[in-house]
Amino acid sequence: MFDHRKYRPAPTVSLPDRTWPDRTITRAPRWASVDLRDGNQALLAPMNVAQKQALWRLLVDVGVKEIEVGFPSASQPDHDFVRWLIEERQIPDDVTIQVLVQAREDLIERTFAALDGVPRAIVHVYNSTSPVQREWVFGRDRDGIRDIAIRGAELLAREAAKYPGTDWTFQYSPESFSQTEPEYAVEVVNAVLDVWQPTPERPCIINLPATVESASPNVFADQVEWFCRHLDRRDSVVVSLHTHNDRGGAAAAAELGLLAGADRLEGTLLGNGERTGNMDLITVAMNLYSQGVDPGLDMRDPNRIIDVVEQCTGISCHPRHPWVGELVYTAFSGSHQDAINKSLRHQRADAELPWQVAYLPIDPDDVGRSYEAVIRVNSQSGKGGIAFVLERDFGLNLPRWLLQAFAPIVQRESEQRGGVIDAERIHALFREHFVQDGAPARLLGYRLNRNGHDHIEARIAVDGVERSIAGSGDGAIAAFADAWRQAFGTEVNVADYREHAIGAGTDAEAAAYVLLTLDGRQVPGAAIDRDTVGASLRAVLSALNGAELEQREGTRPGLDDAGARRSEQRTPAV
Ligand code: KIV
Ligand code: ZN
Repeated sequence: MFDHRKYRPAPTVSLPDRTWPDRTITRAPRWASVDLRDGNQALLAPMNVAQKQALWRLLVDVGVKEIEVGFPSASQPDHDFVRWLIEERQIPDDVTIQVLVQAREDLIERTFAALDGVPRAIVHVYNSTSPVQREWVFGRDRDGIRDIAIRGAELLAREAAKYPGTDWTFQYSPESFSQTEPEYAVEVVNAVLDVWQPTPERPCIINLPATVESASPNVFADQVEWFCRHLDRRDSVVVSLHTHNDRGGAAAAAELGLLAGADRLEGTLLGNGERTGNMDLITVAMNLYSQGVDPGLDMRDPNRIIDVVEQCTGISCHPRHPWVGELVYTAFSGSHQDAINKSLRHQRADAELPWQVAYLPIDPDDVGRSYEAVIRVNSQSGKGGIAFVLERDFGLNLPRWLLQAFAPIVQRESEQRGGVIDAERIHALFREHFVQDGAPARLLGYRLNRNGHDHIEARIAVDGVERSIAGSGDGAIAAFADAWRQAFGTEVNVADYREHAIGAGTDAEAAAYVLLTLDGRQVPGAAIDRDTVGASLRAVLSALNGAELEQREGTRPGLDDAGARRSEQRTPAV
């Protein structure tokens, strides 16, 4: 039965003088990966040796320096993997492996034996401390559970002494910390510290798990701040957090926990882990990066991270996964595309400008995403996206009125095809509808006399029949319009005209866009030529041909609204 009365709000901590809300994160925490342990134990099919090796290499390449590699006392594959790392000398000098073990004598002994010969390692012991675990799972009271922790700590110290060649670090987790009474969690941890006697020179790690995320991130932050204040030997302890994502807040809880005093975060790449997963290392690292903080992890190639994690876990990365999903730097909506397009222009104009581009929290290029992915055109897209694609891929900078006429054509096509239209198709549509300088009228050549008032003599072919036309005006286009009027009796007025170079140097071409007024209706045309005058004359012809073709053919299927309107009141152009 779906009945909210079955549940109670999570207990909160009274901390009216909390300090974490006023802090900011200014440096990266120590990162620890639990992909090969927590991540692996959450998989339908645990990783095989090759997969573990691939994930290990990835974690090392990404720059994670503390990597929990398994539970060697409880799993033969984990044991074999640890032995492979040690015997094949796979552990770089600046990387420390970590292994997990329950606070049980036989398991702790086996763990140290599995680590024989390792230069340095973190041994991570844990036991559950929350009321439900104490009472219903272990059937022990508070003292009984604290004794398990103390015994585990003593066993770690005893076994470590048997392997003096290894540089040992001890780690303790009061599992289900976030559901444990804060004063009891501190009592247990302080008892563990009494056994280990850490010093600032030889600190231990105390890891605070939100084993099941059961409250909002601010409650977790209060718990962490309260804990840090009451912990003995704070200067000799690395406070680590291990958050899970049951409420979708693992990253937020970890970040607020850092504000509350934690030094280290445990998590996994892309957040794989028990149930809804562990805190995603990538998300939190990129959150820091986007705030101008060096995350200390190399996130330049998320595609490789995604590939390896997907191959190892069999779980695919959601296309909208924060920072690295396939679609997270793509805008389909017209207004978003327009805003991205405009702000990217400002951004590119000044390399020193701090990044501020609408709808793009970071430069996609930083994470190996090209601008190609940024704007994709579908039926939701508008002028901005089309403008972006034509400029980026073809150097065409369409004026607004032309984009206005073109956008419905693209939208119609996208609706018919049902999806994204690629840049090539957009370009083809543009040429098909607006660059129509070949028929029925075609420019064969022209001579322009620019002595004061411009005079043009042009040779054209109309439906294959050649003829010469001549006219004068203020500028080449006006002279050509005059020649057209004299030859065909059509009044041609230029409402707007734009031109620009495509590319640079001797190979540069010219693009011209013209908006004609023909019998009171506006007709756009465009052309590309080796020189500006040629492009402008051809653009006029494109507009005239477009109008003429509409008149001859009627409203062509798939023509845009503007085109449909134009063809309602036809007047022969040629
Ligand atoms: O989630 C958890 O509590 C754990 C512990 C073993 C640290 O994975
Ligand atoms: Zn966990």
